[in-house]
Amino acid sequence: MTKLLTLSTYTRDHLEQIRPTLLDVYAVVYTEEIASDPFFSMESFEKRLAGHTSWPGWTCVVGEVDGEPVGYAYGATVPPGGWWHSLRTDVDPALTHEDGARSFGLFEIMVRAPWRGRGIAQGIHDELVNSRPEERAVLLVDSTHPRVRARYEEWGYSKAAQMQPALDSPLYDAMIRDLRADPQ
Ligand SMILES: CC(C)(COP(=O)(O)OP(=O)(O)OC[C@H]1O[C@@H](n2cnc3c(N)ncnc32)[C@H](O)[C@@H]1OP(=O)(O)O)[C@@H](O)C(=O)NCCC(=O)NCCS
Repeated sequence: MTKLLTLSTYTRDHLEQIRPTLLDVYAVVYTEEIASDPFFSMESFEKRLAGHTSWPGWTCVVGEVDGEPVGYAYGATVPPGGWWHSLRTDVDPALTHEDGARSFGLFEIMVRAPWRGRGIAQGIHDELVNSRPEERAVLLVDSTHPRVRARYEEWGYSKAAQMQPALDSPLYDAMIRDLRADPQ
């Protein structure tokens, strides 16, 4: 039987309503990391979520198949001077200039394993990102996960730098996608 994917968009006003879903899906997707790396603990994720949701224009898209949450993505407008604090590579300062309207920061995207490799992640991503008013989207991907980076390259992102946002965090590749270019 054909399964029905629904995509629902939420803002900060709906946070208390969707917080359990955000935590439940994270707990399943990151089970191994939660058990082995304090940076990925539920407590750390909840702290990051609180920080992320305080950014302007925070928006989240949740994907459900037959009413069951299968994944989500969220992000927000990068405030002036934001996002690029923890660069580990030299880049042109013009590339990292943030004026409060230039970039949409994609903080999280995750899909439960049975639902990966089917375009659902891209559907969630596109629903979140393609109608944004910002010029570009920026995201971080673990530098040791080249296959995930390759997936983002398929979606139109390019690696711009490396960053390490916290001492205990992984090293990340920072990627940028021009939102004024034709959709992928
Ligand atoms: C990132 C994600 C949403 C992409 O979903 P998707 O478009 O359906 O793509 P896939 O899950 O098929 O992943 C693409 C490739 O990355 C690999 N990959 C996915 N998650 C990975 C991880 N956590 N670590 C290492 N490799 C990973 C997959 O094995 C796949 O490799 P392949 O191309 O050789 O088959 C999904 O893989 C996911 O939820 N991963 C776990 C959470 C995560 O890593 N989020 C991204 C943070 S930047």
